[in-house]
Amino acid sequence: MTDSADVAPTSGNTDSGKSGFLPPALRGYLVAHGSPPDDILVDLAAETAALGDAGRMQIPAEQGALLTILTAALAPSRAIEIGTFTGYSSLCTARGLPPGGRLLCLDVNDEWTSVARRYWERAGVSDRVELRLGPAAESLAALPEEPTFDLAFIDADKQSYPAYFELLLPRMNTNGLIIVDNVLQSGRVLDEEDAEDSPNVLAIRGFNAALAVDARVQVVVLPVADGLTIARKLP
Ligand SMILES: C[S@@+](CC[C@H](N)C(=O)[O-])C[C@H]1O[C@@H](n2cnc3c(N)ncnc32)[C@H](O)[C@@H]1O
Repeated sequence: MTDSADVAPTSGNTDSGKSGFLPPALRGYLVAHGSPPDDILVDLAAETAALGDAGRMQIPAEQGALLTILTAALAPSRAIEIGTFTGYSSLCTARGLPPGGRLLCLDVNDEWTSVARRYWERAGVSDRVELRLGPAAESLAALPEEPTFDLAFIDADKQSYPAYFELLLPRMNTNGLIIVDNVLQSGRVLDEEDAEDSPNVLAIRGFNAALAVDARVQVVVLPVADGLTIARKLP
């Protein structure tokens, strides 16, 4: 499945595109002053970029570093990802897990996630990552409806974000974080006219508006990459 509807115009791989809200020189500075990705992540990004247009779905390096940092700080025993693709975000998350921590990855695409499996092996994290192939809404609904996860990352089909959020919330522990990607849609969330022919922008605008007044969570929207929301489940 080529998830072309998911490819944002300014999406990019490790070196370009995403974080398009910043002038290129400033983004270069920001990247140069964060910890660099290691050889495994660099190779994964190169292999993903070689996929062409689809490769632009991968999160950029600085977002990957943020995922590792947040995961390590939160030390979740169980984490979940919706939208794994070739594995960049899952590898960054898996690397932040504490001993015994587990990451459940949901995706529909066998071909792309076979790349992820190779890199989990190479990075030595495959023992702590489980992949379930199939529509994520079905995989989520099949999980016990009880608080289980401390960290969730949503980065799949945008129109399903509200459904994913509702399925995830009862499965999150109090103070658990739901991290949501592409919430600024290259800035197009601002342009009401533009959204008429863009179901993704419409869906994300509605998702953002609902989340902002959702009393179940504390929310911050960050201008990281294509916009990153962090929602903390309140007691
Ligand atoms: C933006 S990419 C994920 C990028 C990934 N997080 C990374 O860091 O490289 C979106 C992924 O969502 C998956 N996807 C799309 N629709 C889906 C669905 N209904 N259920 C599960 N996964 C889906 C696609 O197969 C694709 O791999």
